[in-house]
Amino acid sequence: MKKIAIMGAMPEEVAPILQKLGEYKTTEYAGNKYYEATYKGVELVVAYSKIGKVFSTLTATTMIEHFSCDTLLFSGVAGAINPNLKIGDLIVATKLSQHDLDITAFGHPMGYVPEGSVFVKSDKELLALSKEVARELEKNVIEGIIATGDQFIHDEKIKENIVKHFNADALEMEGGSVAVVCNALGVPFFILRAISDTADTDASFSFDEFMESSAIISAEFIMKMVDKIIEQ
Ligand code: ADE
Repeated sequence: MKKIAIMGAMPEEVAPILQKLGEYKTTEYAGNKYYEATYKGVELVVAYSKIGKVFSTLTATTMIEHFSCDTLLFSGVAGAINPNLKIGDLIVATKLSQHDLDITAFGHPMGYVPEGSVFVKSDKELLALSKEVARELEKNVIEGIIATGDQFIHDEKIKENIVKHFNADALEMEGGSVAVVCNALGVPFFILRAISDTADTDASFSFDEFMESSAIISAEFIMKMVDKIIEQ
């Protein structure tokens, strides 16, 4: 049977998903809670990791290695870089990078370490499925590059620097690390984000105002992705 991991970083990002499931079993493991449910004949494991690359790495790894998930979907919010992305809009990551990974002192490009790569590409089949979901929901979803780092960005200059190095459309704090884990363990992944702010000086206020509503928009789309995966 298929076993799908659905991850967020914050409680608000997974709450709408848990609400949809109704009943689930809660297991505590490695300092976190994992919620297991059967949904339309497939097994789901849902968790929020806590914010940042380290916690999201731990959770993604646990979902794959301990709970044996074979597909990973991430639902959450992001700061927009691409001016076409407005609050509540959805972005699907085509590839992801770590914008704060910096050994440029040794002549390497930003985001690169030896034996790694600047970008990790998302799974093509899940991207194709998301196009179908977007069409059916009549949602305008942008496909683009997501840059991940351990900072909440609220500064135009830092944004510009991230664009310069990665040509990113949006930024957040977990996708790039989850992508590295899934890529290394051979598990197809899909990272979806709804915009909560534009990573400028007002970002923290915008985030507080829109994080919850945008998280719901992302979660609704993710559950349609689950339906699509099951239909296949
Ligand atoms: N997630 C949502 N908004 C963000 C921002 N401005 N910086 C980093 N992560 C975010």
